[in-house]
Amino acid sequence: MVAEPGFLCMMAQRRDRFGPMNEDRMSITTEISFVSLSDLKPDAGDTLVVFVGAQLALSDATKSLLGEAASALPRAAKTARFKGKSGSSMDVLSPAGSKAGRLIAIGVEPAKKPPAGAPAYDYAALGGQVLGKAGSAASVLIAFDPPEWASDSHAAAADFVMGLKLRTYNFDLYKTKKKKDEDNDKPEKIKIQVGVLDPLAAKKAAKRTDSLADGVKLARDLVNEPPNVLFPVEFAARARKLEKLGVEVEVLDVADMKKLGMNALLGVGQGSAHDSRCVIMRWNGGKAGAKPVAFVGKGVTFDSGGISIKPAGGMEDMKGDMAGAACVVGLMHALAARKAKVNAIGAIGIVENMPGGKAQRPGDIVKTMSGQTIEIINTDAEGRLVLADVLWHVQDRFKPRFMVNLATLTGAILVALGNEYAGLFSNNDELSERLTTAGIATGEKVWRMPMGPAYEKLIESKFADMKNVGGRHAGSITAAQILQKFVKDTPWAHLDIAGTGMASPSSDINQSWGSGWGVRLLDRLVFDHYEG
Ligand code: BES
Ligand code: MN
Ligand code: ZN
Repeated sequence: MVAEPGFLCMMAQRRDRFGPMNEDRMSITTEISFVSLSDLKPDAGDTLVVFVGAQLALSDATKSLLGEAASALPRAAKTARFKGKSGSSMDVLSPAGSKAGRLIAIGVEPAKKPPAGAPAYDYAALGGQVLGKAGSAASVLIAFDPPEWASDSHAAAADFVMGLKLRTYNFDLYKTKKKKDEDNDKPEKIKIQVGVLDPLAAKKAAKRTDSLADGVKLARDLVNEPPNVLFPVEFAARARKLEKLGVEVEVLDVADMKKLGMNALLGVGQGSAHDSRCVIMRWNGGKAGAKPVAFVGKGVTFDSGGISIKPAGGMEDMKGDMAGAACVVGLMHALAARKAKVNAIGAIGIVENMPGGKAQRPGDIVKTMSGQTIEIINTDAEGRLVLADVLWHVQDRFKPRFMVNLATLTGAILVALGNEYAGLFSNNDELSERLTTAGIATGEKVWRMPMGPAYEKLIESKFADMKNVGGRHAGSITAAQILQKFVKDTPWAHLDIAGTGMASPSSDINQSWGSGWGVRLLDRLVFDHYEG
């Protein structure tokens, strides 16, 4: 194991100066509080945000907060051609009749009917939009009382605040030349007051969504970290930090994995100067002895392709080839932080795929922990090798209720689905439906892809039980077929997140390269079906 000493030293120093990683290091800190709508007292230094529905409808509370400015709104709206449509907004400086220095009206009239199962409104996205519109405002007062909205407004307010928090996320750990406040239009601190009907209820609801936001941010951090910093041993150390929240963390090293027979995983890591690891996290929030749910992640901290080396263009993106593992760590954080009433296993295989002198070759045959053999045709099809052993281990040892694995597994899933949907492959209709529904509810959408014995023909090997690639066609499906050979009767789903885990276009709630995709989806799956 070789650490890059120079760089780590610099990091250690930075840690001293800026405090522990992942905390207090965002360039903008936000202080968010819930207050009663009637306690919002806008002043000249404040930006006041209100929500406007169809035909410029305002709630009663919003009307009384705006006072005379409410009657001036239609004139401004006419000039700005603002009609209250969702996604549109109007910015008024020094609004006549209000003490606020600035007024932002945000349209919330849904543009079209939401798909079945989708919430009437994506409150998290709305939170992100508000922060985006507020720009460099230092003090923001939000009247969170959109007209004609539901009685569960405290849950909505919690989602809204989660959206605000996710929007502020910014990975700038390695920018040493941060602008000083004087020549920076961004404030160092944003104070946000969210006015709601019932601040206590909203605060309580926000406990869960705060944990969730932290889990998503942790996953983003891991994906964004450079591969010289986040190699397998360091990744395991980051996962170990979940012990603080009461998660049991077990780290298997190379010797442990050899003993277990995880040769497919070890084969991928053998060309790297960095040793491989497998981390098993356990959150025991459910009944003692109740079967756990299990999540498994691909954690390739850098995928050079190995001997079947990738082309240079864009290879830096392969630092994100651990987004599946990052999601599992972020999810375990969220479940533990919100004290979810469930027994959950998180298991991640962490390796670096490099073309060193000891690297695995095309033509090699490896014996997996299950006993099945795989002929390596292309060393760049490494994720399935890592997952083969981790899936088997988890199934064998924990007999879980289900296994969901996440992996940036194939470029082919990007060709099929782009950045919009993750590919879902499963042996179980119920689990697939639950994932699909949770996807619609959270906006982390999945699309089920076909599987079947006909595809298995494509991975038959002349020399071993299977080969690790299936040829040009149906690349995402043949990869899933290989994974399925390591799953017995356990309900199982594989999410191919190569298109959603990183480098997706920025959204209302994510402006960073790493998205933390899957944390909200799987938290919702657990919350809706497996708790209690
Ligand atoms: N990590 C890659 C898949 C990937 C591609 C993730 C683009 C994110 C963005 C995976 O290990 C890989 O290299 N897959 C190969 C498989 C092929 C050799 C059968 C691919 O997709 O080209
Ligand atoms: Mn690869
Ligand atoms: Zn890979």
